[in-house]
Amino acid sequence: MTDTCTEAPSTYAASAEFAAQANATADLYDHANRDRLGFWAAQADRLSWQTPFSQVLDFSDAPFAKWFVDGRLNVAYNCVDRHVEAGLGERVAIHWEGEPVGDRRTITYGELYTDVCRAANALTGLGLRAGDRVAIYMPMVPEAVVAMLACARLGVMHSVVFAGYSAAALKARIDDAEAKLVITTDGQYRRGQAVPLKESVDEAISAGTDASTVEHVLVVRRTGIETPWSEGRDVWWHDVVNSASPEHTPEAFDSEHPLFLLYTSGTTGKPKGIIHTSGGYLTQTAYTHHYVFDIKPETDVYWCTADIGWITGHSYVVYGPLANGATQVLYEGTPASPDEHRHFEIIEKYGVTIYYTAPTLVRTFMKWGRDIADAHNLSSLRLLGTVGEPINPEAWRWYRDVFGANETPIVDTWWQTETGAAMISPLPGVTVCKPGSATRPLPGISARVVDDNGNLIEPSPELGEHASGYLVLDAPWPSMLRGIWGDQDRFRETYWSRFAEQGWYFAGDGARYDLDGNIWVLGRIDDVMNVSGHRISTAEVESALVGHSHVAEAAVVGASDEHTGQAIIAFVILQADSADGGKHMVDELRAEVAREISPIARPKEIHVVPELPKTRSGKIMRRLLRDVAEGRELGDTSTLLDPAVFEAIRNAR
Ligand code: WTA
Repeated sequence: MTDTCTEAPSTYAASAEFAAQANATADLYDHANRDRLGFWAAQADRLSWQTPFSQVLDFSDAPFAKWFVDGRLNVAYNCVDRHVEAGLGERVAIHWEGEPVGDRRTITYGELYTDVCRAANALTGLGLRAGDRVAIYMPMVPEAVVAMLACARLGVMHSVVFAGYSAAALKARIDDAEAKLVITTDGQYRRGQAVPLKESVDEAISAGTDASTVEHVLVVRRTGIETPWSEGRDVWWHDVVNSASPEHTPEAFDSEHPLFLLYTSGTTGKPKGIIHTSGGYLTQTAYTHHYVFDIKPETDVYWCTADIGWITGHSYVVYGPLANGATQVLYEGTPASPDEHRHFEIIEKYGVTIYYTAPTLVRTFMKWGRDIADAHNLSSLRLLGTVGEPINPEAWRWYRDVFGANETPIVDTWWQTETGAAMISPLPGVTVCKPGSATRPLPGISARVVDDNGNLIEPSPELGEHASGYLVLDAPWPSMLRGIWGDQDRFRETYWSRFAEQGWYFAGDGARYDLDGNIWVLGRIDDVMNVSGHRISTAEVESALVGHSHVAEAAVVGASDEHTGQAIIAFVILQADSADGGKHMVDELRAEVAREISPIARPKEIHVVPELPKTRSGKIMRRLLRDVAEGRELGDTSTLLDPAVFEAIRNAR
């Protein structure tokens, strides 16, 4: 297990006890290798199909895949009703913990069933029909999960928008999806304070010149904060949902019926509405949740800390765990509310056994110091996971040591909004873990690391472990995206044109192999930044900056940052007649980005510069700006129009 006695081990095998009880066994890989489609058909059998599928995969219209062709199912029935029918109505689905201490609710599968039926009836009453879009802009309250499931039950697509996004960002997403309904809360708790939320919905709907597509706003009373009201348009959840019938017969939809849209950042300023469908998505989320998280629904208490505004919240808070009948914790607040003990208290209080979070949070816990963790009994934990960005080996070891008593496996799961579910990850109990590596594609998944021409960068002693390339997915998978809402050309162009000849999906990440054949994901190689696990495009931040009347030009780069993975660094040129580039202006520009996009996109540094480095064809050379931001010697400047520009930028910093 250990390389040497003095150095930290480089590999970690699970204990014999863990391996003996693990859901996963090595023969999963054999089965999938032998008969990939048969393997996926077996995984689809974990679901309840109203009409069985006649064919596993139809990829004749690539890159548009059809999985489980002709099969019909209802996603919400699979996540709720069937557990109740199986006699598990008393099992806790959600231990909900509000941000204010003492604010908690326990929701059984039986109660979830009633809530989802009532909400589905209320949505029908508001005129929603299969195929319509609903925007969900809510904090982590149980009604958010109920709202998603009610949409799924009706075949209505939800588009969850992170409640930390601004009114402008919400508007762009409502308009693009032409949403008929927005579901929100009056306010939300943010670090002990009740702050308005619905106000942003009103702003989003009334902004602009065109009439909004939104017919109704459905509002959950969460904080009791005073809220503007538009009679006729706005309705209270407690009025229309609580009074609706608790019975609702689910309709089965085609396996390829769209389930949801989720907007994510791309390389342009316009977010992409990623489309996911029903049968394949639910199959892969349930399958991965079962094996990667080793879930034992009868005994485990599972906690994924992601917000429902992100894909991780969709796949591993809502659909995967509920499809598997798991019991989970849902927490509304931030990790430091009211103090740094909160997550540890929750783990202790509910006896959390499986904990899935982001590397950035692990680094935050490290910064707070292990005394905080050590003040709690964390012995219930038996499995840990990470997602969202590469985890540095030091943080990995700290996590295992402090959370996992130096014993638990850690699953470092690589995947994307577009992939819908985990793709590259250890199987706990089977895979020998390596800190910093997501290891291998899961059974049924195929990935490779290739050079510009698509040649495999094979792990070899000659090449060493430093040759890196592009991460591609070279075979379709059930939960793959089915396109970009309203822009299938962009779908082809973004993901399928780079390796069009081979027909591979280009993930946008760089990666390398180690000598054992494990994959190490190195991070984005496009103009997408990863800040604390959040995807933010440089173009989006640039467009928010140039939207300010004093900014003439802006260039944004992601620079390495010890705590957040990457930090947003902006270089701006001000209008000739604008105020000086003093602190006031910089503060104002940072606030402008927070207003336009979200506080998560607020640049860490903004440098007012006289010029930006450009190629002779006028393209901004971000690579060089990244060198400057990270304090490196400048790389190749030969294509630069005016090399002296750096002198000016350095002086300005
Ligand atoms: C990055 C989150 C390294 C990667 C589920 C990917 C990771 C992007 C990992 C997708 C990991 C996610 N190791 N990098 N385990 N997981 N990433 O769409 O750059 O928010 O392309 O989905 O996060 O981010 P997204």
